[in-house]
Amino acid sequence: MSHQSALIEEDILGYLQAHENKSFLRFITCGSVDDGKSTLIGRLLYDSKMIFEDQLAALEADSKKQGTQGQKIDFALLLDGLAAEREQGITIDVAYRFFSTDKRKFIVADTPGHEQYTRNMATGASTAELAVILIDARRGVLTQTRRHTFIASLLGIRHIVVAINKMDLVDFDQSVYEQIESEYNEFAKNLGFRSIVCMPLSALEGDNILTKSARTPWYKGAPLMPYLETIDVSSDLSDDPFRMPVQWVNRPNLDFRGFSGTVVSGTVKPGDEVVVLPSAKRSKVARIVTHDGDLGKAGPDLAVTLTLEDEIDISRGDVICAGQSPAEQTDQFAAHLLWMHDEALLPGRQYVMKTANRMIPATVTELKHKINVNTLDHQSGKTLELNEVGVCNLSTGRPIAFDPYQDNRATGSFILVDRQTNATIGAGMIDFSLRRAQNVHWQALEVDKTSRAALKNQKPCVLWFTGLSGSGKSTVANLVEKRLHDLGRHTYTLDGDNVRHGLNKDLGFTDADRVENIRRVGETAKLLVDAGMIVLVSFISPFVSERRMARELVEDREFIEVYISTPLEVCEERDVKGLYAKARRGEIKNFTGIDSAYEAPEAPEIDIDTSEIAAERAAADIVRYLEEQGYLEG
Ligand code: ADX
Repeated sequence: MSHQSALIEEDILGYLQAHENKSFLRFITCGSVDDGKSTLIGRLLYDSKMIFEDQLAALEADSKKQGTQGQKIDFALLLDGLAAEREQGITIDVAYRFFSTDKRKFIVADTPGHEQYTRNMATGASTAELAVILIDARRGVLTQTRRHTFIASLLGIRHIVVAINKMDLVDFDQSVYEQIESEYNEFAKNLGFRSIVCMPLSALEGDNILTKSARTPWYKGAPLMPYLETIDVSSDLSDDPFRMPVQWVNRPNLDFRGFSGTVVSGTVKPGDEVVVLPSAKRSKVARIVTHDGDLGKAGPDLAVTLTLEDEIDISRGDVICAGQSPAEQTDQFAAHLLWMHDEALLPGRQYVMKTANRMIPATVTELKHKINVNTLDHQSGKTLELNEVGVCNLSTGRPIAFDPYQDNRATGSFILVDRQTNATIGAGMIDFSLRRAQNVHWQALEVDKTSRAALKNQKPCVLWFTGLSGSGKSTVANLVEKRLHDLGRHTYTLDGDNVRHGLNKDLGFTDADRVENIRRVGETAKLLVDAGMIVLVSFISPFVSERRMARELVEDREFIEVYISTPLEVCEERDVKGLYAKARRGEIKNFTGIDSAYEAPEAPEIDIDTSEIAAERAAADIVRYLEEQGYLEG
């Protein structure tokens, strides 16, 4: 039937070639099934004749059997087929549909419309160039319309089609259309879109889908499909400065050394000057090598291997940039962050940040405010929950090369990954580098840790006591410090209850506050180690992540984790401060072991259960460990 499928049958090579030369448009549809989204996508697929004939026959039969449209084809059934796939777990969060017309190839990302699917929408939007926002003409601009529009703008989509659908149900009334158009434009005008085009449609009846509808003579614009076939989005990327994150260093033999990756923006030619970040070394492009021979020029989306005129050190994750306008570098920046995980964001916790081909430890140092995705209002908050958006400051373990997301989606975006589970937990868009990152430098001091420690005749270290409240941490730590003191060692104890009277007076017992509590204590312990001290830290420190962070702040072997593993029943029975009783009565919230988690260490250096051995013995064992491991030798 369709000429495309005829071409596939008769001339497969001709078909493939015609395909290759067509441009691509990636778009996302936003709206709910009630707005007619399934019908619209079904209609686009059907009208583009990319539905295979057996599928079509089934669709016609199904429509007659169970469709809601009488003898007509029910396009929504086409999408319901996808829903069934989804139930079987075949498709994941976002359904991508591929279709094609004579003029262009399309990938459409279809995501559910409700607020709990914001992260799915963000996933679909992150690679899209255009969003089709569906509005039911009878209902007008809704809260979800605003949310979809905001997420689209946040994710860098610059072109919007507002599909004002179901016009047949409002008698193709021009004033209804214009009212929605002006309300939408008013809302979206400051969101940075390059084009916003409204269209009066009936996806069900086919009005203004392929051809102009006679029922909307007052509409002067293009129908949907011709518009999607011709809108120019390609110039967006090639006009930007050249960027190519290096995916791997291609070194088949000693005579060839190339840097492979995909050009994410701009164009490059042999002879162009480039600068490589983070090293900031400069060179010129010698060749652009591809499978099909050398190129005279390469632009966005092309996978190439560059060779340079000079031998410079480049590794995976470095970014090759245009010499005249390189990316910026920073280790502290402001960003919009969309939270994608069931467990809330915890400022202060260390996550892994993934940018193009690079993974770096990163921490949200401050949540400046949250943005209500429905109203765009700013709200204060300490954490971000699933599907919430916030503006944050972040700091990274090493400087990263970046462009503001506004300027470059590829080099301005990142995801955050949980260190333990590797799950993607957040998607970020970099706004700008913090000025302090440029203006605060590391001051070299002449007296260093080694000389301070030598004077004290000891090896500095942290003895990190972790365990439930009442487990005996402070009792044992106190006895260890006394013994070390008697041996003439220089010590200092940081104790949870005490530090919470001063430095950490502002913190409570929410997960976020405990993370910050341990972050500060970890940093303090590090300073004391730098001072040459043997530091005893006695905090519940319930989370694996923050204990690991504290461990990584100091050098190898400087961190000794002492797990006081006294069981909860024993701690509760002792209840020295009467806090367990209060927690059981519901008078204290978030009490560790009762209604707040304790994550036991998996491989502590020392494990002591004070219900089995007396505190004095435990202290003696710990001091012996220090002696045996050489910590007490001068
Ligand atoms: S931590 O979890 O953030 O590491 P930290 O060691 O500083 O806790 O403080 C624990 C001490 O605070 C306990 O020994 C107990 O005396 C007191 N405390 C008060 N409320 C709580 C609570 N909700 N959970 C745990 N400890 C609490």
